[in-house]
This record gives sequence, structure tokens and C-alpha cells, in this order.
Amino acid sequence: MSLLFCILSFFLGSIPWGYLIGKTKGIDLRKTGSGNIGATNVMRVIGKKEALITLLLDILKGAIPVLVIKLTSYGNNHILVGTVGICAILGHCFTPFLKFKGGKGVATSIGVLLSYMPLAGALTVLIWIITVKISRISSLGALVSFALLPLNVILINYPKDFLVFAWLFTILIYTRHISNIKRLIKGEEPKIGEKR
Ligand code: G3P
Repeated sequence: MSLLFCILSFFLGSIPWGYLIGKTKGIDLRKTGSGNIGATNVMRVIGKKEALITLLLDILKGAIPVLVIKLTSYGNNHILVGTVGICAILGHCFTPFLKFKGGKGVATSIGVLLSYMPLAGALTVLIWIITVKISRISSLGALVSFALLPLNVILINYPKDFLVFAWLFTILIYTRHISNIKRLIKGEEPKIGEKR
């Protein structure tokens, strides 16, 4: 049963909302802007409204499987709940619908975090907003907020299991942002809304 939850979560996370929204406009997001299928690239290439819809749908596909399993008898099994969350993020990052080349996992991770460890999730969102307000760079917001996630989890005093998952979320986000990190170092990372 728990394996079924993980598989369903992976497939829900696999739905490439940004890509599908791009397709309705005749645009293949993988071939324009940063090539990413997330809300930042949707905003860059298509527009604000579509980016907001992508953001909400990508957050929901992370939040829903975690909230559902929390309502079941498995709800107190923090390791299983965290694993279901990771599965949704992996689904987004390695979606079989796009030959396993998916997105960077920020919005889906936020959805998972807000439902799995709400206070740490809210802090991550807050740090993302502050960083982006100052820098106008979406990837920097993700890198700073997720770098601080393990520290937030320690400060909030979550049990150890949560800290392990916090590290996994952070490592996954960093591995998906290697191209952004290279551009940031070269000073070539575009600001929000900037075309490249
Ligand atoms: O959520 C993804 C964001 O951190 C970076 O997106 O399109 O600038 O690579 P992008």
C-alpha cells in the first residue's frame, strides 16, 4: 500500500504543467528561454498569468500526495510521508512524459514542504521572496532558501527524520540548478521577466 502511494505521488508529480501550458500557446518551453518547464521560464517566455497557474499547479502536485497520506493511518510515519513527498519531486524532475528530462523542482518542493513541515516550508517561501525581491533572480531565491532549509529545520526543532529529508530536498534542488549556478558565477543569470 505504501509503495502504491509512492508510485501515485511520482506520477502526479510527473505531470509537466508548465510544458502543457506552453503547448497550448504553441511553445515548447524546453527549446526557449532557460529550457526549463517551471513557472520562471513560463513567465520569461509566455506571461505572468500562465506563470502563476504553472506555479500553483506545480505546488499542488507536491502538496496533494503528502496531505492525502497524512490523512491515512500512515500519517504518523514521517519517513513514509517524506518519501511520498520526495517521489512527487522526483516525478517533476524526471518526468517519464518528457523522456525523464523534467524541471528543477522548486515549486513542487515548496508544495511538499508546506504540507510536510509547514513552518519550515513557510520560512523557505519567505526567504525565497526576500532574496528574489532584492536580487530579482529566481534561481538565487531557490538556492538561498533551500541552502537555509536544513538550518531552519534544526532551529524549529523538528525530529531528526525531517532533517534527513530537508537535506535530500536541498541536495536535489542544487543538483537541478547546476546550469543556473554556472550562470550566476559568470554574472549571466537573467533577472525575472528578462528575456535571454
Ligand atoms: O524554479 C526554477 C528557477 O529556480 C530557475 O528557473 O528558468 O531561470 O532556470 P530558470
